[in-house]
Amino acid sequence: MADLSVRNRYFDDLFSTPDLAWMGQNTNHIPAHPAVTAAMTASIEAGEFNAYAPPLGFEELRAAIVADVGVPGLEALVTEGGVNALSLICRARAKPGTTLVTTDPTWKWPCQFAEQQGAEVVQTPIYGPETGYKLTPELLRAHIDGRCAILYLVDPNNPLGVTYTAGEIAEFAAIAKEFGALLVHDCTYRDFAEAHTPAVSVDADNAVCTLSFSKWLGLAGMRIGALVGNPALIAELAAVSTSVLGGNVVAQRGAIAGLKVKAEWMDTVRRIDLANKEKIKAAAEAIGMSVPVWPSHGNFIIVETAGVRPEAIVEAARLDGVMIRQGAYHTAAFGDRFIKVSTTVPKAWADKLAANFAAYVETAKGLTDVPALF
Ligand SMILES: Cc1ncc(COP(=O)(O)O)c(C=O)c1O
Repeated sequence: MADLSVRNRYFDDLFSTPDLAWMGQNTNHIPAHPAVTAAMTASIEAGEFNAYAPPLGFEELRAAIVADVGVPGLEALVTEGGVNALSLICRARAKPGTTLVTTDPTWKWPCQFAEQQGAEVVQTPIYGPETGYKLTPELLRAHIDGRCAILYLVDPNNPLGVTYTAGEIAEFAAIAKEFGALLVHDCTYRDFAEAHTPAVSVDADNAVCTLSFSKWLGLAGMRIGALVGNPALIAELAAVSTSVLGGNVVAQRGAIAGLKVKAEWMDTVRRIDLANKEKIKAAAEAIGMSVPVWPSHGNFIIVETAGVRPEAIVEAARLDGVMIRQGAYHTAAFGDRFIKVSTTVPKAWADKLAANFAAYVETAKGLTDVPALF
């Protein structure tokens, strides 16, 4: 609990920092599409929040999510963020004697959910140019066996920004099937990828996709995401959902509006995101640091810090009102090498970070007292 309180205060302090530049959690701070704000405001004004949403989500939203994934015959379960879709998958499938196989780096929370069910987590290291910072079928085969209940693939990977081809997804799906594991394709960042193949389009019998409205649409604080799969899998997984009274009504109205304007909105988001990425990459390279994965298919990049302690750089930036993330948040094995910077932010925030990056690194070199970071 002590740790939890410290962690809570850390985020509470960030929240109350005036004009904080949120550039650490891959959230989207580009001013929302007016249609999305209008839909949520109208919902609030109509008092819709007085009622519970349908337990699986509004039918209009469920249909729009499946249409967006583009695989007919599937169903969607609307969840309170993608994180809760992942949590209920782990509750349904992970148990003592099973494994959750994933990459290193990966997104850490599903690993914790699986461990809470008594499962073991097996991580396949992918950090390095040898495999282009990607999982390969050979690497996967070296880490998976008949105990595997869940193959958890984050694609695009957070924090690396790599994505997988249709052929690679098909190979991973075949391996998951061979070992009797459910392929859980975490598609949180799919809308930032140049091309993306949801695993449910390759093997709907044995794969589910988790989705988020936090990153592409900017609804992180509204808590809305989804799980997409075949009707039998959705029925099995929905049966262990704790959100039996439905998700956030206002968020669902925003999500419906967002899906309607998605193409236009993402054009804007991608343009701003790319310009921010290029600017921050240039600032890092100007002081001898490198961006090992380029282009990144997520709304973030990693910067290798050339021996400067990532935590110290994060703290130096925080002191100037800029939140970025230390690699250790994602990976114990490789976390001392990099920081991660989220780029779906107003241009002014990226300008500030780029202009001050060299100074943060200089400050970091002299910092001896770095508090706990989360
Ligand atoms: C890989 C990955 N999956 C899931 C999530 C959770 O997203 P949500 O805000 O929809 O719960 C995140 C959030 O950072 C993420 O990085």
